[in-house]
Amino acid sequence: MRPLADGSLDPQGPAAQTIADLWWIMLGLGAVVFVVFGIALALGLFRRRPHSDDGSSNQASSVSGRWFAVVGVVLPAIVVVVVLVATVVAMRALPNSPSGSPGALEIEIIGHQWWWEVRYSEEGFTTANELHIPVGRSVTLRLSATDVIHSFWVPRLGGKIDMLPDGTNTMVLEADAPGEHSSQCAEFCGIGHANMALTVVAEPEREFLSWVAARQRPTEEPSGETEQRGLDVFMASECADCHTIRGASEADTADGPDLTHFADRPDLGATFLPNTRANLADWIRDPHAIKPGVKMPATELSEEELDALLDYLEGLG
Ligand code: CUA
Repeated sequence: MRPLADGSLDPQGPAAQTIADLWWIMLGLGAVVFVVFGIALALGLFRRRPHSDDGSSNQASSVSGRWFAVVGVVLPAIVVVVVLVATVVAMRALPNSPSGSPGALEIEIIGHQWWWEVRYSEEGFTTANELHIPVGRSVTLRLSATDVIHSFWVPRLGGKIDMLPDGTNTMVLEADAPGEHSSQCAEFCGIGHANMALTVVAEPEREFLSWVAARQRPTEEPSGETEQRGLDVFMASECADCHTIRGASEADTADGPDLTHFADRPDLGATFLPNTRANLADWIRDPHAIKPGVKMPATELSEEELDALLDYLEGLG
C-alpha cells in the first residue's frame, strides 16, 4: 500500500505553496521564541541571586522588570502581529471564494461513509476515489457530504476544508506539475475514517482530456460469454442495488461508487489497496476483512459466479 497522505511541506501548487510559506514563518517565529525563552529560563535558573543589604536587589528587580516587559510582552506582541498579518495575507491569496475561480474547471466531490463520489457534471460522468485535474489550470471543487462531516485535504495541493451534509463548500486548486498525490479524509467520520483515501492525478491538459473522453464513454457490451455471465451475476446480486455501471446497469441510489470504467481505477474501496484480481476477489468475498465497517455487504457467490464477475469487472476499462 502507498502512504496515506504526503507532503504539505512539498507543495505542488500555488495554494499549497502559500500555506507552506505561512507554516515556515510560524515555525521560524516559534523557534526564535523557544530559543529566547530557553535562554531566559536558563539565566533565571543558574544566575546567582545577589545579596540585598546594599540596595542592589532593587536595581536587580528593575532590570528583571525591563526584561519581563521585553520578553514577556513586547516579543509575544510582535510575534502575534506578524503571524496575524502573514495569516491574513495568506488567506487573501487563497482563491476560495464561494463563486470559485472564473473559467475554472468545476468538479463536485461528495463525501460518503467512507468513499468519495467525484462528479464531472459538465463532462457528464461520475467516478469514485480518483480525481483527475489538468496541470496549470484552476479547478473549482464543490464539496459536500451525504451523511456526516468529512474533510477534504490534498496536502501537496492546498488546504483543508470541511465537507458538510447541509451545505456546499468551495475550494480552488491548481497543480503546477504532473504528479500523483494521495489524500485522506481529514475529519473523523466513523469507523472507516482511516480508510477514506483519494488519489489525485494532475496531468497535462492533453492527457486529462483523453482521460475525460475515455470516462465519458458508456461501458461496452460484455465481450464474451463469461463476461456476459459476470454481468448477469452482477444484476442478480445485491451489487446492482448500489453500483451504477453506465450503459449496463443503473442503480437507484448512489450508495456505492459508480463502477463504469472501474478496471482503470488504481485502488479498491477508497483504500490504497491495488486494484488487482486477487485483491478484488478478496474484497467481493468479504470487504469487512479489508475495511472494517464498510457498508458493502459480503457477497455469497459460488467460485464460478465470482470468477465470471471478476472477468466482467476487469473488462470495465
Ligand atoms: Cu470521511 Cu473521515
